[in-house]
Amino acid sequence: MYSEKVMDHFQNPRNVGEIENASGVGTVGNAKCGDIMRMYIDVDDNGVITECKFKTFGCGAAVATSSMATELVKGKTIQEALQITNKAVMEALDGLPPVKVHCSLLAEEAIHAALWDYAEKHNIVIEGLEKPVNDISEHEEEEEY
Ligand code: FES
Repeated sequence: MYSEKVMDHFQNPRNVGEIENASGVGTVGNAKCGDIMRMYIDVDDNGVITECKFKTFGCGAAVATSSMATELVKGKTIQEALQITNKAVMEALDGLPPVKVHCSLLAEEAIHAALWDYAEKHNIVIEGLEKPVNDISEHEEEEEY
């Protein structure tokens, strides 16, 4: 039911953890399944995302999609990262079962939430970026899960 890549990223997730004093941190949650994803990004002076880490409290597909999302985001410019859709994440994982598509949406939203936080902290507007509807960053600032 799951591709080899999904299983690989689930069993050996890349870039798990936190970034201290990250340029941007965003947390999103899916109210239906209760899964939570937090993404950290570091952005250099040229607007390139040099580092990206995540913590996910969620299903296997959520872990795999966030892992793949961090891999796709690293080394990209902000505008390029903004173009990474859940579809791109799914394609990079060789697909997901239909009932798991929402997990990849959470990964896309986590990227947007981290970018949103980065923009707010640096007082800039990222063209084309909207605050994700499932952004729950404010509700659990320092809370651990
Ligand atoms: Fe909700 Fe996977 S079941 S993110």
